[in-house]
Order: sequence, then structure tokens, then C-alpha cells
Amino acid sequence: MCGIVGYIGSKKTKEILLDGLGELEYRGYDSAGIAVLQNNNFSVYKAVGKLVNLQEKAHDFEPKGFAVGIGHTRWATHGKPTELNAHPHLGESSYVVHNGIIENYAQLKRELQNEGVNFLSQTDTEVIVWLFEKELRGSASAFEAFSKTISQLHGAFAVLLVTKSEDETIFFAKQGSPMILGRDEEGEKHFASSDTPLIGKCSEVIYLEDGDFGFVKPNEIMLLDKGGNKKIPHFSKLSTNKLSAQKNGYRFFMEKEIYEQSDVITDTLLGRLSDSEIIFEELDPTLFDGINEIKLCACGTSYHSALTASYLIERYAKTRVSVEIASEFRYKEPLLCKDTLFVAISQSGETADTLETLKMAKVAGLKTLVICNVDNSSMVRLADASILTRAGIEKGVASTKAFATQVAVFWMLSLYIAKLKNSLTCKQIEDQIALLREIPRAVEIPNGLHEKITRLSKRYLHGHGFFFIGRDVFFPLALEGALKLKEISYLHAEGYPSGEMKHGPIALADPELFTIALLPQHILYEKSKSNVEELSARDSTICAISPIEFDKADDYIQTSSAHHYMIEFFEMMVVLQLLSLEIAVRLGNDVDMPRNLAKSVTVE
Ligand code: F6R
Repeated sequence: MCGIVGYIGSKKTKEILLDGLGELEYRGYDSAGIAVLQNNNFSVYKAVGKLVNLQEKAHDFEPKGFAVGIGHTRWATHGKPTELNAHPHLGESSYVVHNGIIENYAQLKRELQNEGVNFLSQTDTEVIVWLFEKELRGSASAFEAFSKTISQLHGAFAVLLVTKSEDETIFFAKQGSPMILGRDEEGEKHFASSDTPLIGKCSEVIYLEDGDFGFVKPNEIMLLDKGGNKKIPHFSKLSTNKLSAQKNGYRFFMEKEIYEQSDVITDTLLGRLSDSEIIFEELDPTLFDGINEIKLCACGTSYHSALTASYLIERYAKTRVSVEIASEFRYKEPLLCKDTLFVAISQSGETADTLETLKMAKVAGLKTLVICNVDNSSMVRLADASILTRAGIEKGVASTKAFATQVAVFWMLSLYIAKLKNSLTCKQIEDQIALLREIPRAVEIPNGLHEKITRLSKRYLHGHGFFFIGRDVFFPLALEGALKLKEISYLHAEGYPSGEMKHGPIALADPELFTIALLPQHILYEKSKSNVEELSARDSTICAISPIEFDKADDYIQTSSAHHYMIEFFEMMVVLQLLSLEIAVRLGNDVDMPRNLAKSVTVE
């Protein structure tokens, strides 16, 4: 996802900014840029693609002495990855960099356009700098204009702004997106959206809080809270270990990625929910004209999100859905009809089997859509349309946040199609949208949960196998839970529909067979419960995950009594991820790089 750096001082400004952006590369990006203000003159460089392109462009630029600089790596959300859309964005005499999404940008943009502003980019960010220029005309100071600007923005943002009207200042604001202010040994100030660019440069930092805003000058820090009250800047010591900083203090990238699901799903939803409808600016609704079936095709975890989607799309959009494993689909000589929309799902957008099926669909003349995490990936470039999941780069080989964001996108997509097809009432869509807004909270890890799962995990290190069972969307979730466990613990695990156990697998039941039972309250609870009772009667060891206490279980992990099964889905997803993680940790495995697996499978 996007990254920000900033610096004010007399050292090598260009190097500090470019090094900082280099430290943020691991987060993924598709364009980058810097703006340096020196002697009331801006030097600005932007480039699409890797940072080396930006370095080449700025090769001959050597600012000497005092300067003020900001830099950015962009992961496209509004508008394609082009130089025009790359940050920093220019107003009349100011530049801005921004992470996050300005939810009310469309309205602000319309108002500014009516007042004669000519926008150059398709980004939401550009409204910030134009709003600032407008406010500057009616304000006593640049800071007053900046404060007025920030107060009009809705959504999540971290912003740095530099302006010729005060050319020894960086203005900053943080709301919902991370921003850190650092100070080096000489007292010079640096900014970054995560601590890695600051390590080795700054000795102490302030992790800004939501609502914080202010400015820094060579000899001054002005920090205010969201109420406009002055805060005393309290710096804390900065770690010197880069790898552990990239992990944000977590033991593994997978663990960090489980914990950041609330933030990334917020990004997935941002700008896509109004009170009454789903907004996919990237989709032309005619994509669904004449479509009678949707075919979802993927591998691994992405296949599990597709299976989840099949329930949601049929249930809400009343459209027939088929789900295919890409490696099978390639060779089954499938019948492809033009009234089918072909949807490929992939975190990386490069998985060889899935990419090949997309090519097959294109050759057969089908309309195609890709749900993907990586813009500019092969699949995104090939498909007619794409929806980005905005999970940020996923480092852990075992996918977690990619799955969560895919399911969130599919839930939105089912409602988007439902609206086009009139298969749900306006009220039903509104209610579902209100539920979608609850996902970020549902995936937060409540106090004590992780600790409980860690304690409990010691009982599941042996035995002859695991069955993860669930019904409806909890069946694909069970498949995903089993896949997570086998990938990183190397224990044998299978996912099964609860109602299917008695058709064979129950023969395996004994105390050494561990059943992880998903028992949500709001879908098929009684039926699922009796399936688990059948296993309990045959002495299988049972770990029940449910909001309702289950006396036939050996272990019980309580989830909250959410009021909808999809919210329960997201809560249980986190429980399964943590359970796999802790079992694998106890077994001493390399959780981030499990044996025999690669993050992106680009061979057949
Ligand atoms: C499991 C996992 C894999 C991938 C699969 C498809 O944790 O990561 O099963 O889901 O290799 O990859 P993408 O989604 O990149 O096409």
C-alpha cells in the first residue's frame, strides 16, 4: 500500500527521501514521487513502476543545504498507476502526499471544479491541495488554511503538505492511516508512514494519534489533537532492528497480517459504500448485461473465497454461480457460453493456472473480471475489468488478509449485482451495507482471545488428523481453516461440510481425531450442532467455535453474539488463523516460509 516520507533539514534531502521510499518498497507500490522545496522553488520528480525509475529521473538533481522534502510510493486506488496520478500532487504553489482515501472527495472535487479548479489527476488526493489553496486565500496563515482543509476531509488519511507560502515548514495530519514524526541526533525532523525508513536515521519518534495535526519547522514542532488543543510532543526511543520493525513488533509477518486485517478491510471498503448502494467506480454496470451465470475460478485460498462468494451471489444476487479449481478447469474441455461472466480470483494476479483459465475465457469471447490484490499484475492487465482488494503486500506465504479482503469484495459484489438485478429491496441492501461496515470491528482481536488460543493449542500437536467442519459459508471457511493448518503446521487437516461427515469420514472418529467445529448462531445452528453431536458420540475430540456454549465439546472458543452470520464468519476466520499460527509455532515451524511452498505459483 502507499507509503509516505518527509524531511526538513540540511542533510542530503534527495537521498533521505529516496532511501526512505526504498524502505517502504516491501509494502508494494506502482508509482513513486518526490517534491523538494528549496529557496522557494520546487523540484519534483515522479515515475511509474519501480523506484529505480524515479532514481534515474532524479539522477542529476543534487539539492545542497537546507531543504524541505516529501515523498510517496503509491498503490493505485483512485485512478490508474500513471505519472499524473502519482504523488506529490500540485495545487498552485503547494504539494501534497497522502495515504488513505478521502471518502467525500467527489463532492469536494465538484465544488472546486465549479469554482474553476482544473484537476490534472483522477486521484482523491488532489482535492486536498486545491482545497488548501482555496483556504489559503481567505486565511491569515498557511496553518489556518491547512487546519480548515483537514477539517473538511472525511475518511482515512495521513497527509504531508509543503507550500511556497511558508517554505520552511511541513504541515501534517493523521486520521486512520499511520504517520510517525521522527527526530535525529541533530534535532532535524523526519516523517514516515511506518518506522522502517526512520530506523538508522532517527533516534526517537512520536507515533501520531488519530486526529493529530500540526506543522514542523527547523526549530519548532506544533502538535494539536483533533479538538485543536496543543499537545506536548512526547518522543519515544526507536528500535534499531529493521526486520522486526517491518513486522511491527509481531513475531511473524503472518501474525502481523492477521492483526492488520481490520485496517486493510477498512481500505477495501473505503469509498465503496454509500448508505444505499455499493460503488465500484472501476466497474461499468453493462459488464453484467446479458449475463445468466457467473463462473468463479481460482486456486488455493482464493478458491475458498470464491466458494464463499458462490453462496453470497446466489443468495443475494439470484444469479447462478459455478466455482472451478483452475488447474482442473484448464483441461476439462469446459463448455463456455457467452452469457457467462468469467471471474478469476487471485491475490498475486500471477498464478499460472488461474492466468491460463482467464486466457481461455478471453479466447472463448466471455466477458472477464478479476478480483486481485496486485494492480498491473498479468491478470489485471488481461481482464476486461478488475476490482482491487487493497490488502497491501502479503509477505506470509500462508494467505490471511488476502482471503479476508477477497470475501469482503465478494460480499460487496453480491450486493452490487443484487441492485442491478433488483433481487433485494433497497432496505435489504441498506441493512447489508450497515453490516459490511461492521467487518473491521469483527476482525479485531479481542482481549484474551489470542492468549486463550495459544494456551489451547498445546492440546492439538499430535493425533491422526483434523477435520474442520461447517455448513453454508462456514464450509469454505472450514476448508480455508484446514488449508492454513496443514500449510504451516504440516499436520493433516481436511475441511468438510458438517452434514457430509456421516457419509464416510465419521468412520475416522476417535479421541485422536480432532474436530474443529464452526457453530455460528445465525445460520443452521441446530443442524450444525447435531452434526457435531454425532462426532462427539463417537469420541472425537472437539473444539467448538461458537457464540453459544456447547457442552459436548472438549474445548470451546467463544465468539461474540454478532447479529449476522457474515459477521460471525469474519470473527471465526480470525480464530482459525490464530489457531493454525499457534499450533505451528509450538511445533517450531517457520510460519512465514513453510516448507515446499512459494508465495506466488507461476508454474503449472
Ligand atoms: C494459501 C495460499 C495459496 C494461494 C494460491 C493462489 O495460503 O496462499 O493457496 O491462495 O496459491 O494464489 P493467488 O491467490 O495469488 O492466485
